[in-house]
Amino acid sequence: MSSPIAFTWPLPGDEIARLAEVRAVRVREGGELLDEAGLAEFVGNAEAVVTLLADPMTDRVMAACPSLRVIANCAVGYDNIDLEAARRRGIWVTNTPDVLTEATADLAWALILAVTRRVVEGDAMVRQGGFHGWRPDLLLGTGLQGKTLGIVGYGRIGRAVARRAAGFGMEVAYSDSEERPEPGVSARRLSLEQLLAASHVLSIHCPLTPETHHILDVRNLRLLPDGAFVVNTARGPVIDEEALVAALESGRLAGVGLDVYEAEPDVHPGLLGRTNVVLLPHVGSATLETRSAMAGLAIENAVAVLDGREPPTPVVRGD
Ligand code: GLV
Repeated sequence: MSSPIAFTWPLPGDEIARLAEVRAVRVREGGELLDEAGLAEFVGNAEAVVTLLADPMTDRVMAACPSLRVIANCAVGYDNIDLEAARRRGIWVTNTPDVLTEATADLAWALILAVTRRVVEGDAMVRQGGFHGWRPDLLLGTGLQGKTLGIVGYGRIGRAVARRAAGFGMEVAYSDSEERPEPGVSARRLSLEQLLAASHVLSIHCPLTPETHHILDVRNLRLLPDGAFVVNTARGPVIDEEALVAALESGRLAGVGLDVYEAEPDVHPGLLGRTNVVLLPHVGSATLETRSAMAGLAIENAVAVLDGREPPTPVVRGD
């Protein structure tokens, strides 16, 4: 029998069960996330591993798993994987783009609406018995009509967020290394500095790379207009959280919505007590439909490599 495909976590949906009917699988039961030593031990002699974005697939882990031929990340992002090490060792790396685009764009909008219309504050007020009847000035928020939505990173998810903006009457501008026209969306491409200066709401959609690490730092945060909102559903370290907290404390930012954190799963204590901050636990793609589709695509990638075929969504080509 072929070597089992290892899953570092039991993924939602029935894709693993369907695979198990035709191939050997080894599925971890969940529990704590794995560190490097735990990952190395769990993957062992497997030729294929389906990983989570929180699994640190470092050179050390790869060195300890000499049979490994494919790392099929069940995420669109792959900053948890040492790509250089995989390349050097001839290991394929794959990800799960496209299938999670719409769910993640929806969640970015959920955060935009939550922070601008103070949804979480309102919920807390009602539950705590603080709602004593309609008032003209109760929980005034900020309207979106006619304002500019700035998108940092105009890839698949950034463009899906832009497509939704017309429904809220927002102008769209973006910064990206490439001009990327999106059918049906009129969007201006600006430099990052111009984009920041123009954005009433800034939404982050770039991958985490050495170039994007802390692109929202003290200096760049100062370029946002007073009263701007910042939403991040990409990767935490794109924003310098210390600088973000300072911008909130100074009152210059009106609100922040985060699904991701610089030192995930830890959250900067300066964010926790603020009512104008909405915090989610990295759930951008968390619908049953999307997570099942991600599992299905990750499995397709792993199986393709084991069967000597081209995987559908490669990031690094192996031997
Ligand atoms: C989620 O953050 C992903 O990269 O899929």
